[in-house]
Amino acid sequence: MRDFKCIVVTGGAGFIGANFIRYLLDDAGFSGVVVNFDALTYAGNPGSLADVASRFPGRYFFEKGDIRDPAAIGRVLDKYSADAICHFAAESHVDRSIAAPDDFVQTNIVGTFNLLEETRKRADRISLLHHVSTDEVFGSLGDDGFFSESTPYSPHSPYSASKAASDHLVKAYHDTYGVPVTITNCSNNYGPYQFPEKLIPLMIMNALEGKQLPVYGDGKNVRDWLYVVDHCSAIWRVMRAGKSGRTYCVGGRCELSNVEVVHRICSMMDKLAPPLPGGRPRNSLITFVKDRPGHDRRYAIDCSRIENELGWRRTETADTGFEKTLRWYLKNTEWVDSVRTGEYKNWIEKNYVDR
Ligand code: NAD
Ligand code: TYD
Repeated sequence: MRDFKCIVVTGGAGFIGANFIRYLLDDAGFSGVVVNFDALTYAGNPGSLADVASRFPGRYFFEKGDIRDPAAIGRVLDKYSADAICHFAAESHVDRSIAAPDDFVQTNIVGTFNLLEETRKRADRISLLHHVSTDEVFGSLGDDGFFSESTPYSPHSPYSASKAASDHLVKAYHDTYGVPVTITNCSNNYGPYQFPEKLIPLMIMNALEGKQLPVYGDGKNVRDWLYVVDHCSAIWRVMRAGKSGRTYCVGGRCELSNVEVVHRICSMMDKLAPPLPGGRPRNSLITFVKDRPGHDRRYAIDCSRIENELGWRRTETADTGFEKTLRWYLKNTEWVDSVRTGEYKNWIEKNYVDR
């Protein structure tokens, strides 16, 4: 089992990164220091960790910084004598990558390269760089079959192509320079603190307000859904016990078509959320819209390696995970409102700019 004193988490103000930092400090039994290194792009929200610094004095630090800047990475690694990195920072939204791919290349590929170089320079101290990646690198499945660690890469969107390139660099740095790395390729996540450009939070937030629920194409594209905290426990398991240089696929064993996901959310909301005017059922808001170009049809993960080798299991099913998520969005109105109105950007200005 690896043990770490100080983990630098890149992209810790994003959806999965913020959940991971909470998991590390609250649930994982980790007793060291966590440094959140994040550029605070549109997707970075310090409000997702608002209570953490005061609950963990001396154990949680925020450093505003960009992985496109190697000097900034080096400075933070040395300032805290970091001995591990967990790398989430990325441009993560497929639709944005189709509209404007440049940042995806710079952050996802060049940024990962910078991290690898800065890690290589500190080989005497850094015992692991864990790279968080996606199942989208494998392309698209037909009606049957699963992605696994031996599936050839075949990315289709600029997002998945940039993540594929970063995965290859990570593997190359292990094989060529002996940099200690592990990689996880995970399916679609959902849960608290997710930015409402992704399917599930967008549908929840639109359905709360009685707005249209846009479903791309015929809505029959399939994703394998995983509750974000289950992803966090998988990453931690791999960081502690995964074999260096090895990839682990992580999934929820939970395939659902998009239209089914939206129907389930609508009926759960009809039970748990305030009713729409006239008691209108929320699934009447579903609107089929133009398809995403190059839209992958089906993703599904065979996660037997991480289950068999590391004993990991997911704990939430779609029923339990969707309900937890919906209840979280209904309860955390301050976070939801700040994201909806862009308020958190003002908060960033006040707290982080020019520090
Ligand atoms: P996110 O978009 O919610 O958060 C990304 C974070 O990275 C933000 O806080 C942002 O400010 C930060 N960031 C962006 N560019 C940066 C830069 N140049 N330097 C420093 N920080 C920067 O993303 P997410 O959904 O939390 O995904 C995190 C990671 O997990 C990504 O690498 C993504 O590819 C991977 N992943 C996501 C999913 C999913 O379903 N969301 C599934 C599998 C893998
Ligand atoms: P998304 O959450 O963007 O994740 P990814 O593209 O990485 O899988 O989308 C999940 C699925 O939902 C995908 O098939 C696209 C579809 N989708 C919609 O139908 N409508 C939407 O408004 C969004 C954001 C996604």
